[in-house]
Amino acid sequence: KEAKLWGGRFEKGVTDVVEKFTESISFDKALYKHDIMGSKAHASMLAKQGLISECDRDRILQGLDEIERRIESGLFEWRMDREDVHMNIEAALTEMIGEPAKKLHTARSRNDQVLTDFRLWCRDAIDRIVPCIKSLQVALVNLALDNEGLIVPGYTHLQRAQPVLLPHLLLAFVEQLERDAGRLLDCRARLNFCPLGACALAGTGLPIDRFMTSDALGFTAPMRNSIDAVSDRDFVLEFLSANSIIAIHLSRLGEEWVLWASEEFGFITPSDSVSTGSSIMPQKKNPDPMELVRGKSARVIGDLVTLLTLCKGLPLAYNRDLQEDKEPVFDSVKTIIGMLEVSAEFAQNISFNLEKIQKSLPAGHLDATTLADYLVKKGMPFRTSHDVVGRSVALCVYKNCQLQDLSLEDMRSIDPVFDEDVYDYLGAENSVKKFCSYGSTGSTCVATQLDYWATKLEVD
Ligand code: ARG
Repeated sequence: KEAKLWGGRFEKGVTDVVEKFTESISFDKALYKHDIMGSKAHASMLAKQGLISECDRDRILQGLDEIERRIESGLFEWRMDREDVHMNIEAALTEMIGEPAKKLHTARSRNDQVLTDFRLWCRDAIDRIVPCIKSLQVALVNLALDNEGLIVPGYTHLQRAQPVLLPHLLLAFVEQLERDAGRLLDCRARLNFCPLGACALAGTGLPIDRFMTSDALGFTAPMRNSIDAVSDRDFVLEFLSANSIIAIHLSRLGEEWVLWASEEFGFITPSDSVSTGSSIMPQKKNPDPMELVRGKSARVIGDLVTLLTLCKGLPLAYNRDLQEDKEPVFDSVKTIIGMLEVSAEFAQNISFNLEKIQKSLPAGHLDATTLADYLVKKGMPFRTSHDVVGRSVALCVYKNCQLQDLSLEDMRSIDPVFDEDVYDYLGAENSVKKFCSYGSTGSTCVATQLDYWATKLEVD
């Protein structure tokens, strides 16, 4: 067996069970690119500071480039007995270039190394997620543009509430997604500080230049406190929290569309290309992708809870428990990207059932609040108008009709203030036309919002 990189003080090697249990190479090899990047920046800094020769630096840089090529062409052998990505790459470099490779770990520990890799990885992951958020926003805005004047029932408590324009409703999700992207970018800015050079925990007595490595890796600055640098995982907690909030938003979107695709609602028909069937019931066409979006939000939340629990009882600085921080992050990122992509695909592949929506509009007295506002315009206190309209709705329930079916006489029997112009306020269409407050469902307000998003997202 090959001696461990840390093997000097040991008389015996670890057992196979321990080796298998403690390895992380099976998953942390995903960090290889960032590990190599970090090592290259570190080697250049060591040379600049006179800690290694320029010749050694060049051999290290060339060797690392060669290793990267081998990894990417599948020729690199990842070895479990070399434990993790850091030692796999360092040991392979030593095999390749000999002595100079043994100088690479000067003024560095795996503790600051792994965090440098991980912060770089998370930064890139955020840069992959944000465009997926934007693509979903674009898909939603396109859906809104295609259905600009469509009135749908708006719900509260899942009971019919007031009529709204479909774009208004779709743009509500666009707004949520915008904050989601903002949270990720905030997180990116906060995590973009460099732990490299913190070494094991205390820093080093060697004359390194942490500002140089920080700059070379595109970080804002080196982290101020070396103990904090190797202890901190709150950048991970923040990232996974932001992902969890995205997952919740997508889950709610999924729930909305699953409901709308049901026979009972029947508002949308997902195309065959985003639906799946049943192995027993031949008639079935299910909106599985959005059900899975709802379902996978559980994983993303689970990943966050794993990390929160992992960090809860840890004393300062590096503890091996922290090796467990990677898989949940990889899982969260992969899952959230899949959820965003499939949601955008679903949005591009649904059609609204105009006739069914139109037919359903009279149900549920969606115009009742507009009617109450009508009475307010006639000078009635709102509490009184609420009561008057409540009694009008009760009359409709008794007569099994809509507010607009009541005769003026019927209405006047409840309150004499009602006038002929009342019919201009009744029915979902008339009702929607009356909205005019900022951010409301009124057609000009919605057109303004839609215009804002189409311009911002460069949708034409
Ligand atoms: N594989 C380890 C991890 O992912 C790297 C750091 C190990 N440090 C140590 N002192 N054992 O956390």
